[in-house]
Amino acid sequence: MKFDPWSPEFVAHPYDVYAELRRERPVGFFEPTGQWLVARHADVNALLRDRRLGRSYLHVATHAEFGRPDDPGFQDPFWRVIRAGMLDVEPPVHTRLRRLVSKAFTPRMVEALRPKVAELATGLVDRFAESGGGDLIAEVAEPLPVTVIAEMLGVPEADRHLLRPWSADICGMYELNPSIEAQHTAVRAASEFSDYLVGLARHRREHPGDDLISALAQVADGGDALTEEELVGTCVLLLNAGHEATVNVTGNGWWSLFRNPAELERLRADHGLLPTAIEELMRWDTPLQMFERWVLEDITVGGVDIPRGSEVALLFGSANRDPEVFDDPDRLDVGRADNPHISFGAGIHFCLGAPLARIELAESFGALLRRAPAMELAAEPVWGPGYVIRGLESLQVRV
Ligand code: HEM
Repeated sequence: MKFDPWSPEFVAHPYDVYAELRRERPVGFFEPTGQWLVARHADVNALLRDRRLGRSYLHVATHAEFGRPDDPGFQDPFWRVIRAGMLDVEPPVHTRLRRLVSKAFTPRMVEALRPKVAELATGLVDRFAESGGGDLIAEVAEPLPVTVIAEMLGVPEADRHLLRPWSADICGMYELNPSIEAQHTAVRAASEFSDYLVGLARHRREHPGDDLISALAQVADGGDALTEEELVGTCVLLLNAGHEATVNVTGNGWWSLFRNPAELERLRADHGLLPTAIEELMRWDTPLQMFERWVLEDITVGGVDIPRGSEVALLFGSANRDPEVFDDPDRLDVGRADNPHISFGAGIHFCLGAPLARIELAESFGALLRRAPAMELAAEPVWGPGYVIRGLESLQVRV
């Protein structure tokens, strides 16, 4: 097999190909996407922190100066939303946006949410266990992070069912070479989501509540130059990033445990292993397999010269299995103590939600271990089509 992110077999098990890349071609050009694939942990980690690269180049150059075509006009509504969020901008705009939002995500603020997250997780798991099981993803993995982030932002309960489909459609654009249909679907979702949030933010400006949209809407008024577009872009980013990967870590993580029954038994016998187990599940089957960066100045990586204007694709899933960094990397070890996995990224875009994600995962895995101690797989799961954002379609279990 070779690197082929459009092949279901590769998506199901990319790790042997990664091992070969790390050994034989740790930095190599991939013609079908025009990107440089970077496979080793040391390189991925260093490039994430290297300010000669950026998630965007539009703060230093035009598309033409970077030898890239203009975005097709029909995509405007998509890029307006996406490029207004902190993930797709670089300093100084990134610094300002991140500073504003990070006030709500300090470890102390997030820790204060733990009792509420625990109560939600227990409620979901109890209902799931009482009904004898079903699809763990639809019944537990999705509703927990969606509810938590929607409540933080102040999205009314009646509207929350809209978030998952909008997010999934928007994420379609992050896959490699998305089809034209996927592009149109993403644009439509971004427009609808944006219109919805403009309405909600305007309402909250008049009638503020105890939520993040109200708080950010006040900042928008307060002269700290958070434009309405930035407010909407920030909320879309938080609502999407605030659940996508957490859903996938829950699904992929339980499937990893079912495939490694001795490790599942070890965890069931000692719930004290939960913190290391969660980090290990994020390492062993990485939910976000790849992140991209633009090369803003000429660089050399692993002896390979990569010129300004290139795009690098950092293979997180490969970095997380690098034997230079992890002992016996293909082994799932729920007690792994030394685990510098890269699943939350590194550098200035390091995941803002990492403390919240860790609480959500600890509470949902914890509730399932305690209240569904004999949960078992009911059917072989199927991977969704995504490679960049990689997760199971469903995970049928019996309780
Ligand atoms: C297990 C779950 C999660 C994983 C694996 C994850 C992973 C990541 C990664 C890898 C990045 C950096 C991307 C890059 O450098 O290109 C990132 C950024 C981000 N994540 Fe997460 N994330 C998770 C959960 C969350 C949650 C719950 C939130 C809630 C708010 C969140 C909010 C963000 C935001 C706002 C950014 C952008 C930060 C910036 O650009 O400065 N994430 N995440």
